[in-house]
Amino acid sequence: MAEKRDWHRIATRYELEHDQVLEEQTVKVVEVEGQLICLGKYKGNYYALRNKCMHAGGYLGEGQCDFEGNVICPFHRYRYSLITGKNTSGEGYYARTYPLEMREDGLYIGLKVKSWWKF
Ligand code: FES
Repeated sequence: MAEKRDWHRIATRYELEHDQVLEEQTVKVVEVEGQLICLGKYKGNYYALRNKCMHAGGYLGEGQCDFEGNVICPFHRYRYSLITGKNTSGEGYYARTYPLEMREDGLYIGLKVKSWWKF
């Protein structure tokens, strides 16, 4: 069964067309419904990861993006693929990825619908 998601706009079409969201090969933190997300741009595409590094909680969105599309954690410099979330520096971690959807009016992120019993 497919996971149910709520979709939230994180950038307008205007912002995207005027390069006001992110510069190429950079990351930043965005807050969506109280969740911190690492939003990255690589080769013209946007990607979203959980902002928290699985090693010791570094904020990935405050790191850097390398020339291969990996976000580098600002704490201990472990790397995660923006595309897959896989830790590419060899420590065996994964960062949760979020689906993004380009729509007519902007860029949307899909967050899992929280079940009331998990609050
Ligand atoms: S907290 Fe991210 S590499 Fe250590």
